[in-house]
Amino acid sequence: MTLERYGHGGDLRTAAEAFGGEPGRFLDYSSNMNPFGPPPVVGSVLGERWRELAAYPDPAVRELRAALAGRYDISPDSILVGNGAAELIDLLVRVLRPETVALAQPAFVEYEQAVRHAGSRIHPIPLLAEQDFVLQREPLEPALRASGLLFLGQPNNPTGALVPQPLLELALEGGRPLALDEAFLDFVPDERNITLIRRAASQRNVFVIRSMTKFYAIPGVRLGFMVAHPDHIRMLQERQVPWSVNAMAQWIGCAVLQDAEYEERTRLWLQEERPWLADGLRRLGLHVVPGAAANYLLCRLPAQLAGRVDELQRSMGGQGILIRNAATFRGLEAGWLRLAVKLRADNERLLLTLGAVLDEMRGRFEGGGAER
Ligand SMILES: Cc1ncc(COP(=O)(O)O)c(C=O)c1O
Repeated sequence: MTLERYGHGGDLRTAAEAFGGEPGRFLDYSSNMNPFGPPPVVGSVLGERWRELAAYPDPAVRELRAALAGRYDISPDSILVGNGAAELIDLLVRVLRPETVALAQPAFVEYEQAVRHAGSRIHPIPLLAEQDFVLQREPLEPALRASGLLFLGQPNNPTGALVPQPLLELALEGGRPLALDEAFLDFVPDERNITLIRRAASQRNVFVIRSMTKFYAIPGVRLGFMVAHPDHIRMLQERQVPWSVNAMAQWIGCAVLQDAEYEERTRLWLQEERPWLADGLRRLGLHVVPGAAANYLLCRLPAQLAGRVDELQRSMGGQGILIRNAATFRGLEAGWLRLAVKLRADNERLLLTLGAVLDEMRGRFEGGGAER
């Protein structure tokens, strides 16, 4: 059974079925959450406000939209909150419904699914390992001519690469819509200079999608938002399921935005831990894609073990550590895996376990040649 049977990482129930034990026993490197866990204020909100669940949530999500508008200095009318970024990705493509959507590959699988749901065609933009998966001008230009929407991750998942600023400008030149998924951008130190949120709020061809899931470690809540021109936001909201954002999600969203200490702690941790883990992985013989400062690393096994990520995943899973087989991303061949960045003690355990499993696999490969 593959750990990615539903297309994503972080599926603890499937892990428990595959490797035994309770879902809670796993150290999960297969999904990219903030390892500090939800900010403590989430516990207070749930404990204090549960009686209010007897009422419907605010259908216009006013308090949270106002809080987000204040943070980014934009109008609340340019913000649509959704049941996770996933809902907004799907909604946007279904509403715009272009004949062809240009998608970089590899990228988050949900973009492709959204395009298929909308009945649109995909124009693939290949991202290449030898260019560290950074988007290049040559495949972008024909993609812009061939498509009615360009959908990009900023930074991209699973590569961690940022789209170079001049290419964003190029994409915006002709007025063609650009959807930018900034789900992981909060982790990037220069976020304020990179984000297109403020442009999206006023310019008609930019749609920025954000997730609150990753940075605040609340994937179970389902919370994301989109920033676009108010006319577009109105049209999108009309097509959204009513009360799509539940009351708890709205309260939690407002509360976590006020925890500046949590945000600062997260940025400081990642600044130190990402290079430390990347270094450790390289010392084990893995190739690590440089990427931006997002909280995950895309790695490739050495050539002689490239066909064995499944086996590696099983061995690691047996020892309680989940890793993401990145060969499930279109555009990546066998041998790639994606790992989250966690706290030091966990990262040490990851490196120790991974080192031992890789040694054992190499030993079998070198000793037994024929065995595969
Ligand atoms: C790049 C990217 N965008 C969006 C999402 C969806 O986030 P959410 O949990 O807010 O739906 C994910 C989740 O894995 C992701 O990796």
